[in-house]
Amino acid sequence: MARTCLTIILAAGEGTRMRSRRSKVLHEVAGLSLLGHVMRAAGAAGGEAQVVVVGRNAAEVEAEARRHAGDIGIVEQTERLGTGHAVLAARQAIARGHDDVLVVFGDSPLLTADTLTRLRRPLAEGAAVAVLGFRTQNPHGYGRLIEKDGELVAIREEKDATQAERRIDFCNGGIMGLAGAHALALLEAIGNDNAKGEYYLTDCVEIARARGLAVRAIEADAAELLGVNDRGDLAAIEALWQQARRRAMLLSGVSLQAPETVYFSHDTEIGADTLIEPHVWFGPGTRIGEQAEIRAFSHIEGAALGDGAVVGPFARIRPGSRLEAGAKVGNFCETKNALIEAGAKVNHLSYIGDARVGAKANIGAGTITCNYDGANKFFTDIGRGAFIGSDSALVAPVTIGDGAYVASGSVIVADVPADALAIARGRQVNKDGYGKVIRERNAAIKAAGKAKPKG
Ligand code: UD1
Ligand code: CA
Repeated sequence: MARTCLTIILAAGEGTRMRSRRSKVLHEVAGLSLLGHVMRAAGAAGGEAQVVVVGRNAAEVEAEARRHAGDIGIVEQTERLGTGHAVLAARQAIARGHDDVLVVFGDSPLLTADTLTRLRRPLAEGAAVAVLGFRTQNPHGYGRLIEKDGELVAIREEKDATQAERRIDFCNGGIMGLAGAHALALLEAIGNDNAKGEYYLTDCVEIARARGLAVRAIEADAAELLGVNDRGDLAAIEALWQQARRRAMLLSGVSLQAPETVYFSHDTEIGADTLIEPHVWFGPGTRIGEQAEIRAFSHIEGAALGDGAVVGPFARIRPGSRLEAGAKVGNFCETKNALIEAGAKVNHLSYIGDARVGAKANIGAGTITCNYDGANKFFTDIGRGAFIGSDSALVAPVTIGDGAYVASGSVIVADVPADALAIARGRQVNKDGYGKVIRERNAAIKAAGKAKPKG
């Protein structure tokens, strides 16, 4: 039978160095909160029960946690007395007796489910404590993994370490696995007799050894264990995340002409043979089919783009936009909450909001759907094969029937029947010779101005 697992996510830190009103774990990488990243990895590693230990900003953090898992425990650590103390805030959940208890930090968003799964393995094999270590050239500030005869015997925090111990380059990543059967007893045995006067979670290692229980260290990639302390770390982690995702996109068959200039969100999905030109930004909630083209400098979020759709250059595709197969939205166009059906074209300088553009319809340059009256939003429905002449304003709510034509420069305030031609603009008047009259009058005014003495 599969082992049950409780994941405890520590997020009670003050996060002072972020200099932010928001809790640190709510800051985002790839459009997803640090907490969200950690919760996902934990969930995917089989952590069916999760508890988040919060400090200040509890309500905010709780709301974000619930967005990712309805059934999540939130416990508050009222005083910040160390990582061991923080874990015990989840005492009730631990007492429920899961097979494995994983402790992870809420500010380490690169941690993968795969690594957490590896950390659970020694627990299944009988270890009471499993520690995630990494090697680094610069171990400063980390707890060191002290080994004897190839076995982990203790974790020494930097401040408590001897000179010799400080030279060890095998460090504690901070993530720990505890066998559920021993977890509470080990945690409760932790004291605070150390340089910082804190309850160190890391003391579990020595305590377990003293009780004759098995302890194991697993080595992981240092990059995965990077944590966020300040906004510099956040930016560095974002860069690592983006790099990895670009590589994955390329390998999955997506062409990126200048990978380092493309920004993805955590949930961006793109089909094979789609081409992404330089400088494209994908916000959350975007799905793109195969053989599409996203041209340079486009900004796309909350959108679904079908196979062969073409967007940009310089297009802004906002949430609720749906482009069916082969639809085109060209330069300097903005769409929002709009369905652009198969083969329809919105090619130049248009705003299409709260609207449907029927299949194969053609929207002329500069067309605007006037969807907002300052208080309400209204819908514009443009039928199949309709042709909207350039620089038209469609004042919603309004319906343009299938196959209808709208003359350029029209302001359409009433429905246009299918196959009709609507002309809604001032009628043109030509006044013979008047252009010449104006030109000569202007020349005379300029000449009189020049003749006047300066002063
Ligand atoms: C911890 C480890 C250290 C490891 C390092 C890796 C301990 C004693 N030390 O040190 O061995 O190398 O992580 O990054 O565990 N937290 C609370 N409540 C508290 C204290 C901390 O929720 O009372 C949370 C923080 O929000 C943070 C995490 O626990 O997410 C780690 O705390 P931090 O003080 O950063 O530990 P380090 O000193 O970095
Ligand atoms: Ca830290």
